[in-house]
Amino acid sequence: MSTWGLIKTVFFTAVTVVFFFVIWIYNPFAPHEEYELPDEAEKIIGDPKSAVEGRELFKQNCTSCHSLRYDGLYLMSVTAKPEWSSIEKTQGKPILERKDGKLKVRGYFVPRDVYEAVAVSDLQNLKASLGKVPPDLSTMYLARGAGYLYNFISDPQKVLPGTSMPKLFFPEYDKEAPQKVAKIVAYLRSVNEPPAGEKAKRALMGVVTIGYFILMGALLWIYRKRILKQVGY
Ligand code: HEC
Repeated sequence: MSTWGLIKTVFFTAVTVVFFFVIWIYNPFAPHEEYELPDEAEKIIGDPKSAVEGRELFKQNCTSCHSLRYDGLYLMSVTAKPEWSSIEKTQGKPILERKDGKLKVRGYFVPRDVYEAVAVSDLQNLKASLGKVPPDLSTMYLARGAGYLYNFISDPQKVLPGTSMPKLFFPEYDKEAPQKVAKIVAYLRSVNEPPAGEKAKRALMGVVTIGYFILMGALLWIYRKRILKQVGY
């Protein structure tokens, strides 16, 4: 191999290695935790069973201000409207879950414009009393990560000084408070994580795609002489 050929080979190998290192091992675009997360909380957040309890806690404590449209949870004041259940069924798409082997409807995904049209006065009231509309939390886990959410929900003022989001869990009065916050984060996570089977399928698809490119590259490498001859070298 000529010196030039060697340089090219080394260059392209290095670029490929750096590329896969960046996307698989150290991804600078993924959120990196800067917030402390106690071990116990981390365990709860990783447990799919906590997410089920977290959903109930979310419904009780958060839906007075926040919706989570991707999982069919809307403001309490909106779901209390008499017309709401028919709007859900006519404009929404059912969100299914598997329970004891059977498929069940756990809620309805209602398009944003439809929801906001129904909720307009409720959202305005929240804005009037809190200074801003509390955000929909559908993709908050992806945006902020577990450490931030755990710390923020435990004590909003500490993380975001001046925020109008109230502190809702007080360890001094409720021994379970830290666990409850962790369960809510587990729930927010479960909304953004594909189920285990789906995750495995996606990983497999990635491996098959990359395998295809490697195989095709290898075949081209093997046949390159013949191809070069065919094009006149
Ligand atoms: C009294 C109304 C109210 C309740 C109840 C409430 N929040 Fe909030 N929340 C807000 C407001 C207002 C904001 C916007 C804060 C800001 O940007 O300053 C907010 C923001 C947030 C954010 C985004 C923070 C960020 O960095 O942008 C998260 C996450 C959140 N709330 C989670 C929750 C959870 C979980 C609960 C239930 C345990 C809850 N909230 C209950 C009013 C509320």
